[in-house]
Amino acid sequence: MTIEKNIPLAPLTTFRLGGAARYFVRVKNIDELREAFEISKSRNLEILLLGGGSNLLIDDAGFGGLVIKIEITGVEQDGARLIAGAGESWDALVKRAVEENLWGLENLSGIPGTVGAAPVQNIGAYGAELKDTLEWLEALDTTNGEVSRFINNECGFGYRTSLFKKNPGRHVILRAAFNLKKDGKPNDSYKDLVDISRLNLGEIRAKVLAIRAQKFPDLAQEGTAGSFFLNPVVTPQVAAALAQRYPDLPQFEVEGGIKLSLAWLLDIALNLKGASIGGARLFERQPLVIAASPEARAGDVYALAQKIKKEVREKLGIEIEEEVRILC
Ligand code: EPU
Repeated sequence: MTIEKNIPLAPLTTFRLGGAARYFVRVKNIDELREAFEISKSRNLEILLLGGGSNLLIDDAGFGGLVIKIEITGVEQDGARLIAGAGESWDALVKRAVEENLWGLENLSGIPGTVGAAPVQNIGAYGAELKDTLEWLEALDTTNGEVSRFINNECGFGYRTSLFKKNPGRHVILRAAFNLKKDGKPNDSYKDLVDISRLNLGEIRAKVLAIRAQKFPDLAQEGTAGSFFLNPVVTPQVAAALAQRYPDLPQFEVEGGIKLSLAWLLDIALNLKGASIGGARLFERQPLVIAASPEARAGDVYALAQKIKKEVREKLGIEIEEEVRILC
C-alpha cells in the first residue's frame, strides 16, 4: 500500500471537476483500510472515502486530507444471494444478477458508482430502491476499528438516505449481500416502465439502459453526477398550495410528507432548462441533472446550484437540498 501525493481527483469523478488530493491511497482489503485510518490519525488528516466518484463535487482547490479509494473486490453467489465487495461496480453487479437470472436489481441498471456507495444514499430508480433487496452489509466502525453486520432494518434507509449518510465518516462499508429471486416478476410500478410485464430480465435491463441514455448526459461528452438535487418532501399544506397554482405538478405521498417533482417545477413552473453559469447548466432533457462541459470548473456547478436554490426559494417558497455530496 503506497500513499501517493498530489493526485488529480477530477478523472476519478463522473463530474470530472475539481483539484487534487494532497494524499491518496487505494485500499484492497480491511487491513489496508485500517492502516490508512491509522496514518490519517497519526498525521491528523481529514479523510475522504471514494468509490466511483459518481455523486461527488470536488472543490477546484482539491482536497487537503487523505483520499481513500475503496477497491475491495469480489462477488460470491450463494443460491439467490449475491455478496459483493464494496469496490465492485454497481452496474457490473446488476449485469451479473441479470445473467444469473436473478430478479430484483434490474430496474437499477446503469447507475454509476460502487456497491459500497450504493447503500449510503439508498440508490433508487424506476420504482426500485436498494433497500428492497439489500439483506445485510458489513462495515468497519472507524470509532473502534470493529467490523459489524447490519441487517436491512438496522440501516436506517429512507429516500436517498441511510444511517451511513447521517453519520458521515463513521462507518466504511466493506461488502453487501442482496437477496434476489429466482422466480421474480417485472416491477412495472414506475410510469416509464408500464409496458414491461412480458419482458425477460435482459430485456428489462436493456430498456432501463435505453431510458437512462435518453435522460442523462453522455459521460463521454460531458460530466454529471445524475440528479443534483433531491425531490423536495413538503407538508400536505405546502403541497396543496402548490397544487392550486400548478394543478399538473406531480406529487407523491411518501413517509414524512408529499414528494414533489423538482424536475417539473424547474422545467414547467420556472422555465430553467438550460440555465447556465460558465460551463455548468441544467440539462435540457432532465433539469434535475447538472451537466458540466469539458471547460467547466467546480465553481460553476456550485454557483449554478446556489442560484437555482435561491430561485426555488424566492419563487416557490421551498427549500431544496443537494443530493450530490458537495466538497466546495
Ligand atoms: N419532468 C419534467 N421535465 C423534464 C423531465 C421531467 O417536467 O424535462 C417531470 C415529468 O413530470 C416527469 C417527472 O418530472 O414525469 C419525473 O422525472 P423522472 O422520471 O426523470 O424522475 P425524477 O423524479 O426527476 C428520480 C431520481 C432519479 C431516477 C428517476 C427515475 C431523485 C433525486 N432522482 O428523478 O435518480 O433515475 O427518478 O426513477 O430522486 C439520482 O438519484 O441521481 C437519479 C438520477
